[in-house]
Amino acid sequence: MRILMVCLGNICRSPIAEGVLKFKAKQHGLHWQIDSAGTESYHIGEPPHRFSQKICLLHGIDISGQRARKFVVADFSYYDKIYAMATDVYNEIEQIGGRQADMNKVSLLMDELYENENISVPDPWYGDEAGYAPVFDMIDKACEAIIEKSIQ
Ligand code: 4NP
Repeated sequence: MRILMVCLGNICRSPIAEGVLKFKAKQHGLHWQIDSAGTESYHIGEPPHRFSQKICLLHGIDISGQRARKFVVADFSYYDKIYAMATDVYNEIEQIGGRQADMNKVSLLMDELYENENISVPDPWYGDEAGYAPVFDMIDKACEAIIEKSIQ
């Protein structure tokens, strides 16, 4: 199972999602490949935002080794499942893929908890540190749901 978490910058939300799902998969002995990417180029090569790193560390998860990369068309064929953190990200993924976009593989992360309600993980980039805790909690619950479904 190969899973890709996607947001805009690949420095705030999707690095948390990558770190949390990796952590949970390992706890359950699931040998999944889990990565993340962004639909924008601004932060390519950068480590996760310091507040994303901080909230993950608070939960025992070290994401400092991650580096931002851009989502590419080849990701549609390589990954089994692609999770968009938000509806704008979902649309960007579709646009980047063009005719090669395999949208059957793509869903909103929050659909794992609230199917068809079109819920986005809010973008904490423009806010302060307080925004990162609720973002972590949403991502954590959705990742827990992914694990639960897979081990049923
Ligand atoms: P992310 O947050 O998509 O959760 O990584 C953002 C980070 C940077 C920007 C936008 C969103 N930006 O515009 O630079």
